[in-house]
Amino acid sequence: MWDSPPEGLKLDANYIDVWRTRIDLPEEEVKRYALTLSEEERERAARFTFPDKYEEYVVSRGLLRRALAHVLKQAATDFQFEYTDSKKPYLSKKYGGQSISFNISHSHGQALVAISLQRNIGVDIEKIRTDVEYEKLASRFFSEAEHKQLMQLPQDERARSFFAIWTRKEAFVKAIGKGIAFGLSEFDVNVEPQEPPLMLVTRWNPQDVSSWLMATIDSDPDYMATLATDGGDFQLRCWQ
Ligand SMILES: CC(C)(COP(=O)(O)OP(=O)(O)OC[C@H]1O[C@@H](n2cnc3c(N)ncnc32)[C@H](O)[C@@H]1OP(=O)(O)O)[C@@H](O)C(=O)NCCC(=O)NCCS
Repeated sequence: MWDSPPEGLKLDANYIDVWRTRIDLPEEEVKRYALTLSEEERERAARFTFPDKYEEYVVSRGLLRRALAHVLKQAATDFQFEYTDSKKPYLSKKYGGQSISFNISHSHGQALVAISLQRNIGVDIEKIRTDVEYEKLASRFFSEAEHKQLMQLPQDERARSFFAIWTRKEAFVKAIGKGIAFGLSEFDVNVEPQEPPLMLVTRWNPQDVSSWLMATIDSDPDYMATLATDGGDFQLRCWQ
């Protein structure tokens, strides 16, 4: 599923391209990525006091720049980003603006960058951990239906299901650019990690349910990752 990107790869509205990388790269590679960042990004990177947070930021921004450079045939250093009020980054107009959309997610050593044309997209990756209080988090953030279904699962299936629900929800709130402030209980998703992800209920407007599609990104078995998009059917292409 994860291939090397071909030289002539181009963005195509029927596809969403997902790029992945490990964060714990050799120092030289992290340095090479750092050299592609803008001054503003380097200043932000320098404010991270923990080395792993620094690397996460530098490597994922570096991957974003490398992926954009690959498909748009420009230098990785060329791109400028702007930010919505909720801090979602997008390409400045000069480089395609919001007609080329992207989203980044990183979690515990892995990063994903999704890029598409003419869509709103959101991506979320999470390491499946059993040391988080997912039952409490589910009761606080999920809808009643999701929480109930999660609690009906056998104990040993709950962590995986929790992270499936979580990444489905985060991918959606990142696609609309609002982040979790939007309210994760405003909509329902299916809870079965092995099933294709589905938007089941959108409480603000029931019609909206059919506008949103999701896909599970098969990454490492210790991680759960979901992509959400509007704009109709699509296929994933996965690059590393
Ligand atoms: C965006 C948000 C969903 C991130 O979730 P997370 O699981 O912690 O982090 P992820 O690794 O999946 O995603 C982080 C990336 O999402 C992108 N991002 C930031 N804000 C975003 C937003 N509003 N919508 C979509 N994507 C966003 C950024 O590229 C960020 O990575 P970078 O800063 O290294 O470039 C979460 O922080 C959030 O809800 N923010 C919304 C803004 C908000 O309410 N701010 C109030 C803060 S007090």
